[in-house]
Amino acid sequence: MRRKVIAGNWKMNNNLAESQNLISKLITGLSSQKTNCEVIICPPFTSLSESSTLIKDTVIKLGAQNMYFEENGAFTGEVSASMLKSVGCEYVILGHSERRAIFGETDELINKKIKKALLSNLKPIFCVGETLEERESGITKDVVKRQVTGGLKDITVDELEKIIIAYEPVWAIGTGKTATPAQAEEVHAFIRELVTGLYNKSAADNLIIQYGGSVKPDNAAELLSQPDIDGALVGGACLKADSFISIIKAA
Ligand code: 13P
Repeated sequence: MRRKVIAGNWKMNNNLAESQNLISKLITGLSSQKTNCEVIICPPFTSLSESSTLIKDTVIKLGAQNMYFEENGAFTGEVSASMLKSVGCEYVILGHSERRAIFGETDELINKKIKKALLSNLKPIFCVGETLEERESGITKDVVKRQVTGGLKDITVDELEKIIIAYEPVWAIGTGKTATPAQAEEVHAFIRELVTGLYNKSAADNLIIQYGGSVKPDNAAELLSQPDIDGALVGGACLKADSFISIIKAA
């Protein structure tokens, strides 16, 4: 039985004071209940260090939203894996569709980042997903296959154990339009089958595959009850403590 993992991607939201406020509400809300799923928050870089201090000795784990694959040097504006480790990150989101679409990240670049994260003991939350146009052209599986295969190039079976894959159909992100549980399950099962072919059945059976795209308290339970959906990567609904906690409860 795979564990469930609920992660909150704060995106470019919450300054330091707002981050402190949200975390304190999450800690209070979560302390009064038993959580048997893993909970991760991914604040912006500027709040990571303080967040790490605040969540110490709680069930909440810390992730970043991006990193660069070089160790250090003349890469203005970038942040390295070891910098993320030094402020207490355990996870890092890589290949998010906003990074791909707005910042031009390619499968090849994302693969380099995944390799560097693993070398640095950071667990990647590796995002894949098709655009509306790609879905309507009937090439969803081709796109997801290219992204998964490209991102995992030269990753060993042992390394795969540290990776979470997040399936986030681009048309469902921030649009209020969720994939139906059946639509999401179909792609999740496809990813698991793909990983069986790339690695083996046991690696695929153990792989955590999260769904992301307009996950809300009222649709979380149904999505999370699908056999191949092992968690959620939540955007908008993780910015309010109440709704993020409701999604965690649903898991
Ligand atoms: P929304 O939940 O706001 O649709 O965002 C999903 C997402 O992109 C999480 O990474």
